[in-house]
Amino acid sequence: MDGQLLPVLLLLLGVSGLWGQGPGPGGPLEEPPEEKPPEEEPPEEDGVLVLNRQTLGQALREHPALLVEFYAPWCGHCRALAPEYSKAAALLAAESARAMLAKVDGPAEPELAEEFAVTEYPTLKFFRDGNRTHPEEYTGPREAEGIAEWLRRRVGPSARQLEDEEDARALLDARDVVVVGFFQDRDVATFLGLAQDALDMTFGLTDRPQLFQKFGLTKDTVVLFKKVGAGGGRGGLHELHLPLQTSSKIFAARILNHLLLFINQTLDAHRELLAGFREAAPPFRGQVLFVVVDVGADNDHVLQYFGLKAQEAPTLRFINIETTKKYAPERGASVTAAAVTDFCRAVLGGGVKPYRLSQEVPPDWDQRPVKTLVGKNFEQVAFDETKNVFIKFYAPWCAHCKEMAPAWEELAETYRDHEDIIIAELDATANELEAFPVHSFPALKYFPVGPGRKVIDYKGARDLETFSKFLDNGGELPAEEPVEVPGAPRDEL
Ligand SMILES: *[C@@H]1O[C@H](CO)[C@@H](O)[C@H](O)[C@H]1NC(C)=O
Ligand SMILES: *[C@@H]1O[C@H](CO)[C@@H](O)[C@H](O)[C@H]1NC(C)=O
Repeated sequence: MDGQLLPVLLLLLGVSGLWGQGPGPGGPLEEPPEEKPPEEEPPEEDGVLVLNRQTLGQALREHPALLVEFYAPWCGHCRALAPEYSKAAALLAAESARAMLAKVDGPAEPELAEEFAVTEYPTLKFFRDGNRTHPEEYTGPREAEGIAEWLRRRVGPSARQLEDEEDARALLDARDVVVVGFFQDRDVATFLGLAQDALDMTFGLTDRPQLFQKFGLTKDTVVLFKKVGAGGGRGGLHELHLPLQTSSKIFAARILNHLLLFINQTLDAHRELLAGFREAAPPFRGQVLFVVVDVGADNDHVLQYFGLKAQEAPTLRFINIETTKKYAPERGASVTAAAVTDFCRAVLGGGVKPYRLSQEVPPDWDQRPVKTLVGKNFEQVAFDETKNVFIKFYAPWCAHCKEMAPAWEELAETYRDHEDIIIAELDATANELEAFPVHSFPALKYFPVGPGRKVIDYKGARDLETFSKFLDNGGELPAEEPVEVPGAPRDEL
């Protein structure tokens, strides 16, 4: 399970288990979402927003992923790009991808051209989350599918609208893990937006009564479907249901600290702890969300996320869902009201060090061509100053990771006899690193020989040939031969 999804799920889980902060479990909140007065949309041409200095700011606020082409009317390469650019916009719109394409007439908008240091045409810049000062230079392909793919990679796959059972079946068959939002209420894009930002994962979204019925749902719910072997849940799918109240309320609360009490609800001794836990909650209202997790009730994902086993209950964990830092009380600490209060205060006051997940180092970690890294041996291997280390950070459920696995094995075979090259992999869902967080999968990083803890992100194609070129070339891809196709290097001014 990804490190970013869980907080979102927890946030949702949390709502069903919180006390004293809104209505009790299950009671949907009936407040209508606030309506903002609609602002006027800038004009579009062939699906591409046409922006100027008055409208750019608004477009940045409205589109968290915005690709802007600065063009000049007289520029031939711009004209060649135009149909491809429109086609890319159409492709993305058809998938309801959350990326938007826009263009700015550079010569007509000298302030913008100056602000974004545009000196040649076309220049394309990618703006993320409305950040106007640090756009990413677009260096991707200049044809429709390439542009669309470049953007898809940045925004993650979008929620598919599921209209009927056939749609649902197709989506669930295609992936191992799918999160579907069943929402009668349309005010839920926030959840999917948040989760999608963080994940290379497939989302579905539906408001169709027939699908509610099909999955036995009577109210808005987020369901995580996970394929399991034959004999699992319904149709070989494991379902994790997350009751959802209107998201506007959840996100308005914005309580970033969650305290979780893990208990086994079937045990009297565990249930008795609830009184103390409840008693400790009120002073932290608005600051810490108190959540109870039943270790017996399909909450394996939550346990896994915290690196916990069911037998360790009763126990507490604290998480800040923004930093994803996790905190544990001392081993054997009791769960009385006083102990809960002390633990919360200590975490909030900075008196507890966060813990990081790590698997144990497997005894045969360096026996196969692809070395197995975990949290505990990562630093020592990756930052070994005498070795070039190339690491695949993966998630067990990630389809792209599985696709590239054979190429990674071949690569390791190929470089097996190179003393100074190590090809390795690390399950980033079970091992957290102090050096950097891993947010998308697969992430490929290269740690070259020498001091200084250098880390180079690999952005090339995921095949043996390109990997090898990258390694042979000392950690960068050789410059491509220039090709004369429309939209190739921008050379016109
Ligand atoms: C824009 O991004 C940069 C670099 O990530 C960051 O330092 C800056 O604070 C961001 N600005 C805003 C307004 O978010
Ligand atoms: C909860 O406790 C019961 C009774 O001891 C036990 O049978 C069950 O396995 C426990 N559940 C989990 C998930 O450990």
